[in-house]
Amino acid sequence: MSPFLITRTLPEDATGADLRADVLHGLTRTPKELPPKWFYDARGSELFEEITRLPEYYPTRAEREILLARAGEIAAATGARTLVELGSGSSEKTRHLIDALLPGLEDYVPVDVSESALRGAAESLEKDLPELRIHALVADFTRGLALPGTPGPRLVAFLGGTLGNLLPEERATFLRSVRTLLAPGDALLMGTDLVKDEATLVAAYDDAAGVTAAFNKNVLSVLARELGADADPDDFEHVAVWDPEREWIEMRLRARHALTVKFPELDLAVPFEAGEELRTEVSAKFRRERVRDELAEAGMELAHWWTDEQGRFALSLATAV
Ligand code: AVJ
Repeated sequence: MSPFLITRTLPEDATGADLRADVLHGLTRTPKELPPKWFYDARGSELFEEITRLPEYYPTRAEREILLARAGEIAAATGARTLVELGSGSSEKTRHLIDALLPGLEDYVPVDVSESALRGAAESLEKDLPELRIHALVADFTRGLALPGTPGPRLVAFLGGTLGNLLPEERATFLRSVRTLLAPGDALLMGTDLVKDEATLVAAYDDAAGVTAAFNKNVLSVLARELGADADPDDFEHVAVWDPEREWIEMRLRARHALTVKFPELDLAVPFEAGEELRTEVSAKFRRERVRDELAEAGMELAHWWTDEQGRFALSLATAV
């Protein structure tokens, strides 16, 4: 059996305190907003897995296609002995990468806010790859990271297009904090969804089966369970819109009629006008130049840019400068 270590840098009550702060900030302003991280309780994570299998939701398949095609090149370019994965979730797609990086790879450091996802992923990896040391970190990677002292070169992977969930300033802060994790010779591998026609983008976030609508509304169940909010999902409509100026998709929950959501634990009542919207997610889409410029701004240089056959999604490999 390989050593499987798990370290928690996130306080047990971090979620509660954070959610409270986000509700007090985001639901008492106009327009209303909540950060997308609150989708991902157990049910939300399940719904997201379901989204990745929808015919309209191409990013996961496109990224997997690139990873499969380029894993060997990534291994050759990085020679990584440690793979750090930020927001690893189920680590499913990462398997291709791990397989390509072996036998040089010695350590895998998956980082996620979900301890259950980390345990599940580590258990199945440990069974298949007993030689790999796994050091899982329960941490919020947007808040700075202390990585275990594993051998270099290090490859930091940030897959799934999650960068797009951050607003431009948050992206700048995040990329600068990633840069601090990289020593000379280390690299960042990052997945980004690309700008494309509006119909394809909107369909990916408003699927015919209504799975994305259920995922979006799941945040209301999180508010109910964690904060006692009395929001009824039937009172809201799922909305996905493309903003052509900012080149991002917004998911919103639109009140079907005037209503008030009460948060007894916060001593807060949040009024919605009929048709008023709460923004629950931004999912930015990128072009090569923007990725290159944002990496450069954070002290990294774009070394490789790979897309799927259809040019829908990109993987970038960057090095510290
Ligand atoms: C997991 C953040 C990449 O923005 O496409 C899927 C989340 N939201 N459908 C994305 C999501 C709606 C997803 N990321």
